[in-house]
Amino acid sequence: FKVPTPYNEPSREFRPGSPEAASVKKAIAEVTSSVRDLPHVINGERSMTGELRNVVAPHRHSQVLGRIPTADETVIQAAIDAALAAQHDWSRTPWWERAAIFLRAGDLAAGKYRDELVATTMLGQSKTFHQAEIDAASEVADFFRYNAHLAQQIFSDQPAALQGEGNTLDQRGLEGFVLAITPFNFTAIASNLPTTAALMGNVVVWKPSEKSALSNDVLMRMFEEAGLPPGVINLIHGSGRAISDYAMAHPDFAGLNFTGSTDVFRSLWKKTGEHIDQYRSFPRLVGETGGKNAVVAHPSADTGAVRASLIRSAFEYSGQKCSAASRTYLPRSVWNVIKDELIETTKSLRVGDVVEHETFTGAVIDETSLRKLEAAIEKAKGLESHTLLAGGNVHPEEGWFVEPTIFETTDPHAFTMSEEFFGPLLTVYVYEDNEWESVLDLVDQTSNYALTLSIFANDRRAISLALDKLRNASGMTYVNDKPTGALMGQVSFGGGRASGTNDKTGSRLALQRWLSGRFIHENF
Ligand code: ALA
Repeated sequence: FKVPTPYNEPSREFRPGSPEAASVKKAIAEVTSSVRDLPHVINGERSMTGELRNVVAPHRHSQVLGRIPTADETVIQAAIDAALAAQHDWSRTPWWERAAIFLRAGDLAAGKYRDELVATTMLGQSKTFHQAEIDAASEVADFFRYNAHLAQQIFSDQPAALQGEGNTLDQRGLEGFVLAITPFNFTAIASNLPTTAALMGNVVVWKPSEKSALSNDVLMRMFEEAGLPPGVINLIHGSGRAISDYAMAHPDFAGLNFTGSTDVFRSLWKKTGEHIDQYRSFPRLVGETGGKNAVVAHPSADTGAVRASLIRSAFEYSGQKCSAASRTYLPRSVWNVIKDELIETTKSLRVGDVVEHETFTGAVIDETSLRKLEAAIEKAKGLESHTLLAGGNVHPEEGWFVEPTIFETTDPHAFTMSEEFFGPLLTVYVYEDNEWESVLDLVDQTSNYALTLSIFANDRRAISLALDKLRNASGMTYVNDKPTGALMGQVSFGGGRASGTNDKTGSRLALQRWLSGRFIHENF
C-alpha cells in the first residue's frame, strides 16, 4: 500500500454570485430548514438520551440550529464499553486499511461533504465563508492526507537485523481507550484529535465542544461513510467535567487528546494524578492549550506587512484562533507610520452575519465569551496607562458581537499584555527604537504562554538575536509573516510552557504519541 503524495486542498474564493457561494448558500438553507437532532453516536447507534439543550447561531442567538443531549454515567459507560469492545479487531486491522478509511474521509471532506461542513461551521461557529472553507474543507482534508502519509513513514520503520535473526517493531495503539476533548474554534481540530488516535490503532471516546456540535455531527457521519467500523470512535455530548470525571477514573483510560484552555488541561492532569494507582497503564496526556501571541517589530521592519499582519491575525475569526495575535511591540518609528491606518482599517472592519459577503468577522462564540471580553475592555478603559484607539463596544442584542478593539498601553506588564481573552482585543506597546534587546526580554517574560510569535525585521542580526532570545517563547515562530494560518506539511502546530505539551499536530511526533511499541527478536 502506497499513500498518495499529500497536498494542501485549495480553498475556494466565494465571490458574491459565484457558483461556489450559491452552492454553500444552498447547504445553509438546507441546514436552517429544520432543527437538527445532534445525537450521541455509540457503537454506530444514535441516541438523544439525556436532558436536551439548544445549539444556536452565535451571530443570531434566537436561531436554534439543533439540539444536543447530555450524557449521564450510563451513556458514558456505554461509550467506553463500545470502544473497548471494538479494540480487539481495530488494533489488529493493518495500518494501511485504517489509513485507507481516513484517506477516503479526506476525499469526502473535499468533495461530497464539503459544502455541508462549510455551512455548518459558518452557522454554528460563526465563521465567514473564507474562514470556514480554510478550516472545515481544506484543513480537514489536509489532516487526513498528511497523517496517512506520516503513518506510512512511521509503520515502515523497522529495526536492523544481523544474519540469522529477525527483528520486528510491532507498533500498536494504546491498551485501553483514548478520550478526545475538542474545541469549538476549528472543525479541523475536532476532526483531527479523535482520528489521529484512531489512525494509529486506538479506540476513542470523543467529547466535542457543544458549541461546534452542528459541524461535528457532520464529521461523524463522514467518518462512518468512509468506512470507520462502529465503536472505534464514539461521540458523546454533555458536560466536559462530568464526562472527564467519569472516563478518567476508569482503569482502561489510556490517554487524553485535548485542545482547550490551560486551566482545564491542568485540572485534567491533576485528575490523572488522583487516579494513577487505578490505571492499567500510565496514560498519555497530550494538550494544546492557550496563547498570548505577540507580534514584535524591529525598526527595520516592512511597515505595510506589520499592519496587514496585525489586522488579519488579531481580528480574523474575532481573535478566536489559539494562534491569534493579542499583544504587539512596535518601535516608535514604525508606530508613527502605521498608527492612523491601523486604526482606520480596524474601525472599518464589518462585524455581522457571516452569510453576508461584506462581513469581515462574525460573533464571538457565546455570551460568556462576550461578557469576559466586555469586562476586560471596561477594565482597560479605566486604566490610566491605556488609551482606547478603536472599537471598545459589545453588541449582544442579536448576536454576540464584539468590535475589533485596540488599546495602546504605556505599561508593558499590564494584564492586557499577559492574559488570554480569546477575542478581538489587541494591545500595542510602543518602545523606543534603540530598545530592541530589552523589548525581546519583555516579550519572553511578560507571559508564560508559548504558542505562536511573529518577528518583523529586515535586519538579519536583529532577526538572529530575536530567534535566540525567544527560543522558548513559542512553538511556531514566524519571521515576516503573521502568526496564524499554519499549513499542514509546512508548519506543525503546538506550543510549550503554558500552551501545551508541544506534540506538534501535523508531525510524526503527534502520531507517535498514540502508539505503544513491542519489539520482537527472533533467532532463526
Ligand atoms: N492552526 C491554526 C493556525 O495556525 C490554529 O492559525
